[in-house]
Amino acid sequence: RRSLVTAITSVTTAALAMGALSAQAAQTVNLGHTLSDSSHYSVGADAFKETLERLSDGEFEVVEHPSGALGGERAMIEGLQIGTVDVVITSTGPLGNFVPGTYVLDLPFLFADYDEARCVLDGEVGQDLLDKMGEHNLVGLAWSENGFRHMTNSRRPVTSPADAEGLKIRTMENKVHMEAFEQMGVSPTPMAFPEVFTALQQGTVDGQENPITVIVATKFWEVQDHLSLTGHVYSPAVVLSSPILIDGLSEEERSWFDQAAQASAAATREEVSRLERDGVALLRENGMTVNTEIDKGPFQEAVKPAYQIYTDQYGSEMLDRVRGSD
Ligand code: PAF
Repeated sequence: RRSLVTAITSVTTAALAMGALSAQAAQTVNLGHTLSDSSHYSVGADAFKETLERLSDGEFEVVEHPSGALGGERAMIEGLQIGTVDVVITSTGPLGNFVPGTYVLDLPFLFADYDEARCVLDGEVGQDLLDKMGEHNLVGLAWSENGFRHMTNSRRPVTSPADAEGLKIRTMENKVHMEAFEQMGVSPTPMAFPEVFTALQQGTVDGQENPITVIVATKFWEVQDHLSLTGHVYSPAVVLSSPILIDGLSEEERSWFDQAAQASAAATREEVSRLERDGVALLRENGMTVNTEIDKGPFQEAVKPAYQIYTDQYGSEMLDRVRGSD
């Protein structure tokens, strides 16, 4: 009887020790993004966490760092390259500085609607661009989504480029966007997103441009009166990882990361679609004047030179492929 007790005790002790060991062995994956924990990026981060932890049976533990806690998007991408950040959900805003091939996606009025954009990103062009990230010390896991960008400002209703002329508008740190805004007669002020709310509050800039998703998540109605549904550019997001993490994984582990990123992108897109349906009403309820009657023709005309500037610098191959694949 004593030996039975001893045997049971040692089996229990061993099981506990193994449990403790496996709990200890969970590898932390630090995932950063710049938006609040109620945003579409956070929905994507939750799906990433749920999927990776389930598939790996707890081998990985994902810790989400929202609201720019790990820095703005450019700083986080640099963090991926040196391995201080593991996974980032980011717009393509600063990405072209690292992977110039992605600039094509930032051209204004490139995609007519969500279906067209998603179809291109889910096809060969999207996959080639993800693969290209490997040449720049980044791992592109999946195309996610930010949404079609619209202009907000605190000065006046904007329905044409003439109304926007002279406004000081914060843009992303993206030269294709900046060139396009210059063509519109707007004065573009590039800035990392974590600084934007204060800049709007203090009047350093008059306005900014972002999708409904971001305007809702950041409560921009507190510092901006007018929203113009310009839809001037589709803003993709991407789930990126650090090669320093990914290169150390087995094939099976890598496939868990791919699946987690796919689940993240799907959940984010669903939330973007929901906010496209419900978000504008919420912004009106919170006091924003929404200008829906935008004649896009003059905006499209105004930004045309941005295409020439882009093709002069990067050629037309990628642009032709994007246009041919929708
Ligand atoms: O405006 C930006 O910088 C981006 O759209 C944001 C809000 C960081 C989301 O990727």
